[in-house]
Amino acid sequence: MTRQDYIEFILDHYNNPHHKGKLDDPDILVNGGNPGCGDIVTIFVKVDDNDRIVEASFDGQGCTISMAASSLLMDKIIGKTIAEVNAMDYNELVEELGREVVQSRMRCATLAMDTIKAGVRAYPSHKATGKKLVAPIILSETFRGDELG
Ligand code: FES
Repeated sequence: MTRQDYIEFILDHYNNPHHKGKLDDPDILVNGGNPGCGDIVTIFVKVDDNDRIVEASFDGQGCTISMAASSLLMDKIIGKTIAEVNAMDYNELVEELGREVVQSRMRCATLAMDTIKAGVRAYPSHKATGKKLVAPIILSETFRGDELG
């Protein structure tokens, strides 16, 4: 794919987002924020009895890259288990978005993934309480550390 192909891929997700909007009665609701710009993404997830994600959506206002990455991420997490989402590699998302295009905007590209990882990491212990997980705002970059190659 050329740089232009990646830009068009990002713009298509931005203009025609997949799974955008709120989910009623989610099992996980997490808000993630980027301290630098103040953008916030909220992710809603429904999980079945086998800890598999059966529905997911995102909401929020942000830059083109953060919203496109959120849309792409929803496609990728639906059908995965909580453990599989926890083990997802940031680099996979970055490669799909086009590393060359997003490398100077990593906070934007990884905001949604940071946010869902915060949710799935908290979910197992929270599930034991029998309540829905509603997490306060989590600042991006909390989880990925130096995972980005
Ligand atoms: Fe805020 Fe991209 S500028 S997430």
